[in-house]
Amino acid sequence: MALLGFAALTLCFFSVTASQPHAASPSRTASFPDPSSSSSLGICASSVIVHGYQCQELHVTTKDGYILSLQRIPQGRAEVGGSSGRKPPVIIQHGVLVDGVTWLLNSPEQNLPMILADNGFDVWIANTRGTRFSRKHTYLDPSNPAFWDWSWDELVTYDLPAVFDYVASQTGQKINYVGHSLGTLIALASFSEGSLVDQLQAAALLSPIAYLSHMNTALGVIAAKAFVGEITTLFGLAEFNPLGLPVTAFVKSLCHHPGVDCYDLLTALTGKNCCLNSSTVDLFLKNEPQSTSTKNMVHLAQTVRRGVLEKFNYVRPDYNIMHYGEIMPPVYNLSNIPRDLPLFLSYGGQDALSDVIDVGSLLDYLKLHDVDKLSVQFVKDYGHADFVMGVNAKDIVYNSVLAFFRRHIGA
Ligand SMILES: *[C@@H]1O[C@H](CO)[C@@H](O)[C@H](O)[C@H]1NC(C)=O
Ligand SMILES: *[C@@H]1O[C@H](CO)[C@@H](O)[C@H](O)[C@H]1NC(C)=O
Repeated sequence: MALLGFAALTLCFFSVTASQPHAASPSRTASFPDPSSSSSLGICASSVIVHGYQCQELHVTTKDGYILSLQRIPQGRAEVGGSSGRKPPVIIQHGVLVDGVTWLLNSPEQNLPMILADNGFDVWIANTRGTRFSRKHTYLDPSNPAFWDWSWDELVTYDLPAVFDYVASQTGQKINYVGHSLGTLIALASFSEGSLVDQLQAAALLSPIAYLSHMNTALGVIAAKAFVGEITTLFGLAEFNPLGLPVTAFVKSLCHHPGVDCYDLLTALTGKNCCLNSSTVDLFLKNEPQSTSTKNMVHLAQTVRRGVLEKFNYVRPDYNIMHYGEIMPPVYNLSNIPRDLPLFLSYGGQDALSDVIDVGSLLDYLKLHDVDKLSVQFVKDYGHADFVMGVNAKDIVYNSVLAFFRRHIGA
């Protein structure tokens, strides 16, 4: 069953293609960009300044040496002169296999960072370690397997705190947070450990994932039967590059399995995305997918298999004892999220990664949360990518995020 999550998450970016009939040919895989080729243009130059916004390229170094890129949009497009201080800061965190660019692919009137900037927020776009603009380290090179020795535990322990500390030091204010997909999982895990909560004003979680047991069942059966050997081969890979040969071959072998129709399969994996603009999808495919570590993918697969949120499982008891002092990895207990922390959750009825039943498990952990601090929105037609790139996401989701933040600022 480990492969279920592994394969599903491997394929999650393909689902965007699958929802666009014109773009669904398998050969599309071959036209993906090389995520390791560093374009000389940063995200500010390629995707923000061109729309008339100010934007600063910044870097943050984590305690374990990763140098993360961060873009700041300090003010709205219409504002002239310097940033007028005291704007509420907001950190925007992307999901797995993509980077911060995905938030910026729609028009300024439609994309979340620019909507927040135009509504008086000081916007900071994070980019997880291993993605195109966050592939530097104080002494490790991405060609060194040690560069890829991390899972989402390290995003909880190092990446998020580094970005929060930096934004707090620059603004001196409490921070608002928006996460999508893996960006919600690492936030929830952090909050459950009491991390970040002192610096946080409010958190909006789009397509929240914490439990993944119901993500997909059909593929799980196939994967468990047919692909057990593959994961061992892939386990040895340090970098999980969706464009690299071993990963592409793995996906192809999955698609060629008798009885598996990849076109339907891919659509089934994240659910149909109702509301994507085909020009935006083309732009998405020019920019994504991005690398992550194989260890991170395995950790996500473990979350699927075990149905509990726990730290990376080294499987061998002696290894777990070495890392954790216990035979089993420690659990992230979401019941420990402070009950007065303002949370907004928005989830989609067609989202097969953030399945309605799994979101139910998450809400169950939050059932003792202060009622006036928890807002939950259900969007019947939305799939996984609609929350980031839906043409109508402003009306359906982002306006609610704005209203939620405003309600809790200074509260
Ligand atoms: C889709 O994107 C194109 C190119 O950016 C734009 O001209 C068009 O207005 C967009 N359509 C919608 C419905 O937003
Ligand atoms: C999680 O925490 C709650 C309350 O803090 C406790 O009652 C429960 O037993 C914990 N669960 C686990 C699995 O540790």
